[in-house]
Amino acid sequence: MRIKKSRWLACVGGVALLFVGLVASDVSAGSKQLVRKGNVLFEENCVACHQKGGVGQAGVAPSLTNKEFLSIASDKFLFETIRDGRTDTPMPAFGEMLESDEDITAIVAYLRTFSQGKDLSSKVENARAAMGDPRLGKRWFQQVCEGCHGVRGQGGYDSEGSGTAIGKAGFLNKASDGFIRYIIKNGRSNTAMRGFSGPTGLANLSDQEIDDIISYLRILQ
Ligand code: HEC
Ligand code: HEC
Repeated sequence: MRIKKSRWLACVGGVALLFVGLVASDVSAGSKQLVRKGNVLFEENCVACHQKGGVGQAGVAPSLTNKEFLSIASDKFLFETIRDGRTDTPMPAFGEMLESDEDITAIVAYLRTFSQGKDLSSKVENARAAMGDPRLGKRWFQQVCEGCHGVRGQGGYDSEGSGTAIGKAGFLNKASDGFIRYIIKNGRSNTAMRGFSGPTGLANLSDQEIDDIISYLRILQ
């Protein structure tokens, strides 16, 4: 018997689709398992500070489910921040406390389930370096940022408005200029960190003034 070429092709196509389907369902079963493990590890290690569901609490620990944060934070940024912690802040280094890198990967997978919208991490990472004047940046920082982030950006953990330690190496060594610029411009919704660009911003900083502030932060660490 001769099978018509078209039927034969349909048959091969069907088998290929079935195979792709099986592999895909395997991958999604695997990633579901990873997310479940990450959820458990998060409950065990992180909720005391970052709160249930990672929503954060001003003055204690930042939100990890904030949409602006997750859209610009790469997996690498999340992984390494969890691994290394932030020296001289309450954020511990979990590389020494968890069993393996796989545990950290699982937590990152869990945090990713809160991501909404576009992944802007590589765009932000590759944005141009800041070209600002740190002396002017210091002035803007004192006027606009210091009240929440501390005199030298050391972070404050004493009030509802308290910001994180943006003048310390734990943050600065991992955050690119584009990452910092994006946060200053857009803020982080549902937190005390508001955007500082445009007429609706808390203060209407120009692009140059924002670069001045980034250049100032770079000399603090
Ligand atoms: C009213 C208080 C307040 C002011 C004023 C403020 N911030 Fe913040 N900022 C915060 C808080 C709170 C967070 C953490 C938000 C969260 O939960 O994610 C934050 C987060 C940030 C982050 C992210 C840091 C990280 O750990 O990932 C950067 C960068 C930042 N602020 C820069 C600035 C700069 C620059 C200024 C001045 C132009 C400024 N902030 C003014 C409260 C403030
Ligand atoms: C003892 C309190 C505490 C615990 C426990 C803790 N964190 Fe943190 N975490 C913090 C604080 C405080 C910061 C902000 C530090 C700073 O000022 O830069 C932070 C920052 C972070 C950041 C950077 C967020 C940003 O806005 O840039 C990530 C990511 C993070 N923590 C993940 C975790 C994960 C995941 C766990 C559990 C494995 C965890 N943390 C456990 C207190 C804690």
